[in-house]
Amino acid sequence: MSHSNTSAASWAEWFDRSAKHYKDPMMKMAYYLDGQTGTPVSLEVMQATYRDIWNKLMTQPQHTVLDVGCGVGLFIKEYAARAKNIIGTDTSLQMIKAAQKNNPRNDFFVCAADQLPFNDRQFDRLLCYGVFHYLPDEKTVKHTVAEFVRVVKPDGLIVIGDVLAETSPFSGPSAPKKVTRWWPAQLNHRLTKFKLPPNFFLDYCREKNYPCEILEQHIPGRILPDSRYDVRIRVKK
Ligand SMILES: C[S@@+](CC[C@H](N)C(=O)[O-])C[C@H]1O[C@@H](n2cnc3c(N)ncnc32)[C@H](O)[C@@H]1O
Repeated sequence: MSHSNTSAASWAEWFDRSAKHYKDPMMKMAYYLDGQTGTPVSLEVMQATYRDIWNKLMTQPQHTVLDVGCGVGLFIKEYAARAKNIIGTDTSLQMIKAAQKNNPRNDFFVCAADQLPFNDRQFDRLLCYGVFHYLPDEKTVKHTVAEFVRVVKPDGLIVIGDVLAETSPFSGPSAPKKVTRWWPAQLNHRLTKFKLPPNFFLDYCREKNYPCEILEQHIPGRILPDSRYDVRIRVKK
């Protein structure tokens, strides 16, 4: 069936549809052009994103890592040689097919972020980048964080990257910028992204006794219309 003239009914459908475009850096980095100069988002910005997240994950060569909502597996490709093993999951079958093609030596699973088919305490590190704004509500966010804590080893780290907020918790470079949106016409949609203030994570983690930090993004040159931040949770010993 052709979708070229229809708008996606859900994020799940939209991601299945966008998987084939998603390797393109401009697509990956969310389709924004610099409002002032009209310059597409560059490969340098992607490299800066990988570096920023790598620094936050603090992965060591002997670590086993889970990438939840891995999309086409770009982070896995970048990090694979630097960890013992990285497994990817995503709700979108088309994304997982592309991820497997891009990373033939890694294992992938189709599953929701709050229903991971793994044992308790299986991973040293868990990354979930650019996924939480597609979750439907706060209840699902809480289930998802609890599921992450379940599968990570004591003293392991969880990095939830690129969470959207209504307003920036930081001043300066993280503040929203004026941008022009660009993507192929067949990917137009009327879906909305879910925004969460950092205090949501801080309050929930305090209640559960999970040590949690809100981290500013260090991605020079990245231009986005929304405020975004990263969250790092340490699983207790
Ligand atoms: C913006 S992409 C990010 C992909 C990848 N993490 C990256 O940064 O390259 C969001 C991904 O999250 C996936 N996703 C959305 N909701 C999800 C959920 N509830 N559980 C797992 N994956 C989900 C989508 O299918 C999509 O591949």
